[in-house]
Amino acid sequence: MHLIETRDLTYVYPGNVKGLDRVNFIAPRNARIAVIGANGAGKSTLFKHFNGIFRPTSGSVLIHGEPITRENLREVRKFVGVVFQNPDDQIISPTVEQDVAFGPTNLGLDEDIVRHRVTEALAVVGIEHLRERVPHHLSGGEKKRVAIAGVIAMEPQVLVLDEPTAGLDPQGVRDLVDFINSLSRTYGMTVIFSTHDVSLVPEVADYIYVMHKGQIAAQGTTEEIFLRDDLLSSVRLDVPVLPKLIRSLREKGVEVSMAYTYAEAERALLSAYKRGA
Ligand SMILES: Nc1ncnc2c1ncn2[C@@H]1O[C@H](COP(=O)(O)OP(=O)(O)O)[C@@H](O)[C@H]1O
Ligand SMILES: [Mg+2]
Repeated sequence: MHLIETRDLTYVYPGNVKGLDRVNFIAPRNARIAVIGANGAGKSTLFKHFNGIFRPTSGSVLIHGEPITRENLREVRKFVGVVFQNPDDQIISPTVEQDVAFGPTNLGLDEDIVRHRVTEALAVVGIEHLRERVPHHLSGGEKKRVAIAGVIAMEPQVLVLDEPTAGLDPQGVRDLVDFINSLSRTYGMTVIFSTHDVSLVPEVADYIYVMHKGQIAAQGTTEEIFLRDDLLSSVRLDVPVLPKLIRSLREKGVEVSMAYTYAEAERALLSAYKRGA
């Protein structure tokens, strides 16, 4: 059974603006899924269906095989944690600690368990030192981590991050990449994230959905998506720089294997160099 599945999910905003148009999306267990698309493609609208903030205009959303109802909404939100793009929308308490504790406290967990979860969640995102601070006085990147910690503390099976790198500095982006990968590796958590910055996608995703004008324009593995320049430019996205570079070297006669991540590119270029290619 899939953790999340949408079937012909369609959502129409007031004023007859189509947000989503017959979207079929699947999140299997322990996957790292990127949803890429230009601004206005429908990424946020899709994510707002994953924990019942929006209800489909038509089609359906199944969480662990069940449609979302008023009765199971709490369970669904325990199961699927969504971090929105703007952390200010999600931060509500006077201290970081209280903010991260808010969700687990609302689940009715014992105080000791809540404290333990808060400590763990702050450690996972690397902000133990901000425990006593006032969230609204933190930097954008720090606030984002507070929002992520708040969701992690709920121990969801699926973590959904809407544009998690927006507003982060380069080190913040690298930390986030490591963090997503460790959640997936260490906790077997399924992570779904959206971005229009394609360069980091191969570092973090096993599977990619490409959205355009409310539809899924394409889906596939890194190899399947990032060799399709025509597709990416037709949906107003860049081709990631590494496969582009390797392809251009190949066109110039260098025998080098295709690479999508920094580590792959380094290996490929080193081995080509040693062979004297
Ligand atoms: N509150 C809203 N009211 C009307 N239209 C909206 C609203 N929010 C988003 N839309 C429209 O829905 C489409 C998808 O938007 P969105 O899901 O925010 O895209 P993305 O997250 O990929 O940038 C866009 O055409 C956008 O203009
Ligand atoms: Mg968005």
